[in-house]
Amino acid sequence: MNSKGTGNRPFFICYLCGMSKATYTVTAALPYANGPLHLGHVAGVYLPADIFVRFLRMNGHDVAFICGADEHGAAITLRAKKEGLSPKDIVDKYDGIIRQAFSDFNISFDIFHRTSSELHHQTSADFFKRLHDQGQFTEEVSEQYFDEEFEQFLADRYITGTCPKCQSAGAYGDQCEKCGSDLSPTDLINPISTLSGKTPVLRTTSHWYLPMNQHETWLKEWIQEGILDGEQQHNPKEWRNQVIGQCMSWINGGLRPRAMTRDLDWGVKVPLPGADGKVLYVWLDAPIGYISATKQWALDNGKDWEQYWLKSKAKDRKLVHFIGKDNIVFHAIIFPILLKNHGDFILPDNVPAYEFLNLEGDKFSTSRNWAVWLHEYIAAYPDKIDELKYVLSAIAPETKDAEFTWKEFQTRVNSELADIMGNFVNRTLVLTNKYYEGKVPAAGAYTPEDALIIAQIEEIPNRISKLAYAYKLREAQAEMMQFARIGNKYLADNEPWKLVKTDPARVETIMHLALQITANLQIGCQLFLPATAEKLSKMLNASWAHFSDLGRTDLLEAGHQIGEVQILFAKIEDALVETEVAKLKATAAPTSKFPPMKDAIAFDDFTKMDLRMGTILSAQKVEKADKLLQLTVDTGIDHRTIVSGIAEHYAPEDIIGKTVLVLLNLEPRKIRGIESQGMILMAENEEGKLSFLASEKEFGAGPSVR
Ligand code: 2FM
Ligand code: ZN
Repeated sequence: MNSKGTGNRPFFICYLCGMSKATYTVTAALPYANGPLHLGHVAGVYLPADIFVRFLRMNGHDVAFICGADEHGAAITLRAKKEGLSPKDIVDKYDGIIRQAFSDFNISFDIFHRTSSELHHQTSADFFKRLHDQGQFTEEVSEQYFDEEFEQFLADRYITGTCPKCQSAGAYGDQCEKCGSDLSPTDLINPISTLSGKTPVLRTTSHWYLPMNQHETWLKEWIQEGILDGEQQHNPKEWRNQVIGQCMSWINGGLRPRAMTRDLDWGVKVPLPGADGKVLYVWLDAPIGYISATKQWALDNGKDWEQYWLKSKAKDRKLVHFIGKDNIVFHAIIFPILLKNHGDFILPDNVPAYEFLNLEGDKFSTSRNWAVWLHEYIAAYPDKIDELKYVLSAIAPETKDAEFTWKEFQTRVNSELADIMGNFVNRTLVLTNKYYEGKVPAAGAYTPEDALIIAQIEEIPNRISKLAYAYKLREAQAEMMQFARIGNKYLADNEPWKLVKTDPARVETIMHLALQITANLQIGCQLFLPATAEKLSKMLNASWAHFSDLGRTDLLEAGHQIGEVQILFAKIEDALVETEVAKLKATAAPTSKFPPMKDAIAFDDFTKMDLRMGTILSAQKVEKADKLLQLTVDTGIDHRTIVSGIAEHYAPEDIIGKTVLVLLNLEPRKIRGIESQGMILMAENEEGKLSFLASEKEFGAGPSVR
């Protein structure tokens, strides 16, 4: 590949075919650094993106494959709170896990960057500043929900409530996950702070908004027809129906101005005077992460990042965003508005979005731990990376939701990879060793049947190519498997192991052709199963780097010495399936009727509580309060009054003498005019019934609880 510049407009000439080729900037959605990756993420973004890029590279396209960790936003700060760590600790922890898993899984990013980096903060702040200075935001003062206890405004995931569109509970301040509606916190019915669990109050704050409503006309033309500023930019027929459909339903529903800043202390600081305590909206900074990552990669590799992004220097470049379907609006509407507003950038040529992958009959769920975690799979089966890649590609949720089951994993590995590809390659190489001491035999005259096989082989690359350029990578892999299917059938039909006794010359031709088909698998596997391609290259003692070699049946010369034979794919035993299904069920949290665990607290916070056993000495109803009993409790150090809301559950006379658990140092509170000096701890079941926490041994009043 040569890169020649004519002025500031480079073009790329493939050194093999001499053709000028489109250049690509391919991005894969930046995963939040708030948890590990599961197979749903892999099947619906990273694996297809990787296959696509491998295909482009093998075809001589200049390509940059960009990813990194998304380290800002409520996804991070809420996780930090949950784990009792700082946001910085959280992103460091999960960036490490994710980065390692991608590397072990052989995903061939050119760079995996981080949005917490200095370069990213600078790049996204500059981007924001430029749009601000060009007058592309409106500053608006509005009333927003505020949690008085935590002294924080509540945007996005910090607030939940009932969805005004579908009435389901648990919708977030930015989106209802049930019906997919785009929401603002003030749209929610019965809003509740996810920090304190309390109803928030309204307070005034100011933010910078992107007036998305002003961009509907050009967006429609660009998405539906591929035309931007009167020029054809992309072919809309190449975009997936569901992407165009989702965008049009957003646009037809009317785009609303969206706040591009937040009142938070974790994120990229708003680069304007008087904006203290405000950061950029994570969905503004994250996609700019693709640009800052490209800059870092260019710095590290002596490249010019502008050739990958700027209109003036990247004329024939295609920008492609691989994403999950929940990210469509951000990549096909909001980011394009930002890029167009800026003025210097190219817009995406395509946004291949994937549907969701389910797992064993249910949705992947991080909170319920219903997931197969990539790093755990890799640790358990380090020699079965390609097996997982194969199955995830075979079931990829390209056009509709799909499902991963361990049973199907076993079936596909055993009956497709092992019985077809593995069997074919093994037979071919073992017989080559046995009959010809590992040297490729020469072909005699091909029969009409051979010619038919050769014609089939020659057609496959064209089909793979069409499918891959159209982002149909699942079918492209099925086409690659055709080499193995054709080869396996060829040997089974001709039975060279029998024929060798009667017609050894014919067997030489058969084996010659079978070896050429094996060589084709070495090339085809480089796209989908890179570790297998490596093995095949050792076994054949040869490899081919360019896609244009695929489909040839003269790859191996007669007399070429092959390498050592190994088993390509071991069969998956029933025990593996049973173990994995059992593990999934054992570690998944049941769908509970009880509230989820509260956020982590420090050990110091726990030790601050003075918990002791106490004995109820007297009990009486509180006047005009149906629920309250006034108790006198012997705590071992004093006799004190505690007002407790248990009157509907216990008659005063029934609880005298009971040993109960008391929180002694809770700030005294006046309840109905009576000062309550502590709290009796009770268990409450799902029907709201109460029970004292009984002690196993009768210690009496006084012992402390720890
Ligand atoms: O949905 C997500 O996981 C986001 N972290 C994706 C961000 S993609 C890009 F904009 F950075
Ligand atoms: Zn809804």
